[in-house]
Amino acid sequence: MDFTDAPIDTTAVANLAEQKLSLELLDIANDRDKAVGFEAVVNRGFYGERSDEKDIEFLLDATAYRRTTAVWDATEPAVEPVATVASWTTPLSVPGGGTVPAWAISAVTVAPTHRRRGIARNLLEAELRTAAACAVPVAALTASEATIYGRFGFAPSAQVAKITIDTKRTAWAGSTPTGRVRFMELSDLFEQGPAIFERERVQHPGEIELDEALWCEILDYRPGKADKAKDLRAIGYTDAAGDLQGFAAYRVKESSDDTLTAKVAHLAAATDDAYAALWRFLLELDLVRAVEADLRSLDEPVLWQLSDVRAAKVEPFDHLWLRILDPIAALEARTYSRQGSIVLDVVDPLEFAQGRFLLEIDGEGTAAVCRLTGDVPEDAAHATLSERDLALIYVGGASATALHSAGRIVEGTPGAATLVDAAFHSPVAPRLGVGF
Ligand SMILES: CC(C)(COP(=O)(O)OP(=O)(O)OC[C@H]1O[C@@H](n2cnc3c(N)ncnc32)[C@H](O)[C@@H]1OP(=O)(O)O)[C@@H](O)C(=O)NCCC(=O)NCCS
Repeated sequence: MDFTDAPIDTTAVANLAEQKLSLELLDIANDRDKAVGFEAVVNRGFYGERSDEKDIEFLLDATAYRRTTAVWDATEPAVEPVATVASWTTPLSVPGGGTVPAWAISAVTVAPTHRRRGIARNLLEAELRTAAACAVPVAALTASEATIYGRFGFAPSAQVAKITIDTKRTAWAGSTPTGRVRFMELSDLFEQGPAIFERERVQHPGEIELDEALWCEILDYRPGKADKAKDLRAIGYTDAAGDLQGFAAYRVKESSDDTLTAKVAHLAAATDDAYAALWRFLLELDLVRAVEADLRSLDEPVLWQLSDVRAAKVEPFDHLWLRILDPIAALEARTYSRQGSIVLDVVDPLEFAQGRFLLEIDGEGTAAVCRLTGDVPEDAAHATLSERDLALIYVGGASATALHSAGRIVEGTPGAATLVDAAFHSPVAPRLGVGF
């Protein structure tokens, strides 16, 4: 079943009806008044400014394909709902260069007038049941607070970092590519940028597909939005053949100490040369004292392209939260760094991922995964872990050894955590360059 055809979750409808609350799917394209109310409530929920009419129209068109659900209070009829959530399916990059279908969850808000009555719990559990009914193996979100989603089986699977580089303290110590960096018109950036983003996305576990709303969100700009265009600059890197291989969009802002900082809205490079050339350009901007880039990888190559390693401040934070719904499909979608057999006993209070799973990993790193009803085979490494621990190691964001030392993963066979670690290790650190 396609996510757009999924019916409303009847369990959540019945639960909320007990409180005279009505859970409904919203037809963004055809029920404009309610859709506008939905956007207003999402904005208010995240303490955003009121959007103007054009912004709302743009956003509703860009997100009309998503599955939009809201809760109305039957005792206070209004066009504005009291709770919101939107979801869609997207490919999620996994180690090995493949993708797994993921159920992206966004716009989770409950009005302050209706908080702590179990509305978010009903919305979230409904999303997970619907994703499972659509055979989507993984759910994904980015969280406003790190304490909300663990109870639903989500875990911070990929950390990212805000990187600030003191440009006066360091010189460029990386390569000098032969291609050219040129300024780009914003219209060209808008048109050509997503293709570069897509080429880069598949190389990084944890990334999801860009849609128009996400693209505008990362640039903080949309065509026709004159005030957002004023200070947005864009550069592109073209290789010797003249093909665009990367771009950076940035704004130069005055900092509190009167110095200038280049704030990178996004830098995407499909090749190492493009990456080096774009970073070098930013780090060598005249008058600029610092370059600041958010949502970067913890293993960012630029950190090794500076003459002074202390010029960079790296502030990591949890960003991509995953929830494994179908361990077989999820585990078969990625590849592994070590051959061998592994048995994982997954404990899941909500039962989606509950069970014993056998992974047989071949010499190519491909796993055949099945549910195991019997005993652990003699040659297999065996470990017991929660559904959240499985999400933590899934794209290589946490080490099974550390989780074992932390008392979270329990070894059934000696050394199992180290073997799981070696198998699940991702040569490319996971990251997510967008928030949703
Ligand atoms: C976060 C939010 C969605 C919670 O909605 P809610 O309807 O009050 O949540 P519920 O009543 O269903 O609570 C479900 C559980 O989450 C817990 N919880 C709710 N909000 C929490 C928070 N901010 N931090 C930690 N725990 C929280 C509740 O204590 C409850 O725990 P329990 O069922 O295990 O006892 C709501 O407060 C909100 O809209 N906040 C502002 C926007 C936001 O941050 N959205 C999250 C986007 S990622």
